[in-house]
Amino acid sequence: MSSIAADREGLSPGNDQASATPRVIQPGWVRIVHWINALAMITMIMSGWQIYNASPLFEFSFPSTITLGGWLGGGLLWHFAAMWLLVVNGLVYLGTGLATGRFRRKLLPLSAAGVLADTRAALTGRLSHADLTVYNNVQKLLYAGIILVGIVVVLSGLSIWKPVQLQWLTALFGGYDTARYVHFGCMAAIVAFLVVHIVLALLVPKSLRAMIVGR
Ligand code: HEM
Repeated sequence: MSSIAADREGLSPGNDQASATPRVIQPGWVRIVHWINALAMITMIMSGWQIYNASPLFEFSFPSTITLGGWLGGGLLWHFAAMWLLVVNGLVYLGTGLATGRFRRKLLPLSAAGVLADTRAALTGRLSHADLTVYNNVQKLLYAGIILVGIVVVLSGLSIWKPVQLQWLTALFGGYDTARYVHFGCMAAIVAFLVVHIVLALLVPKSLRAMIVGR
């Protein structure tokens, strides 16, 4: 069975208790789009910092050691190149996630009470990581949240890239200047997510292994 079909069925090869094959935790398509997304996001963030430095919104700039592109023109080239990768890959992820029912199965139901209970359990060391195929409520919230932020960062980026052709979109964000702040805010949220996400992946290394080799 293909990894997409396995995901749609909610099955994975080796789910049978009698099988000696360890079961698939992250299907192949999720792993591929996840790592392409990570590469595209990091390129977008570092080249975005380069572009920001040419006209800072706040009283600070990003050190040149963590920016990509060398100068404004170079940063823009990297940003637009990675944008295509991010958007096409993101559409594949959203389309396949919706079509296979993965989002519904993995990210729902999600409740405030569940998030509070799992946060309490995590802080007191009682949160189970035994079954990596099931996300706890904190994971559900973080993943659903970052998917939404990913959509808003792309839309706000489009609105400041083509503010004339996409006037309606720029207007939706409250105008060009506000859209820039929204775009920056999304970037900050993604960076904050990434710090927490990487620390948690390192604290539960078998989840990182599953995102690399699937099992
Ligand atoms: C290079 C840094 C990254 C590492 C090491 C990493 C690691 C991981 C791991 C280990 C998982 C599975 C964890 C679990 O079982 O809960 C995961 C899932 C996920 N990661 Fe990342 N990640 C990285 C970058 C990113 C970025 C940049 C984003 C988006 C901004 C992202 C979004 C997600 C999402 C949405 C999931 C859930 C995927 C699904 O189940 O459909 N990750 N990541």
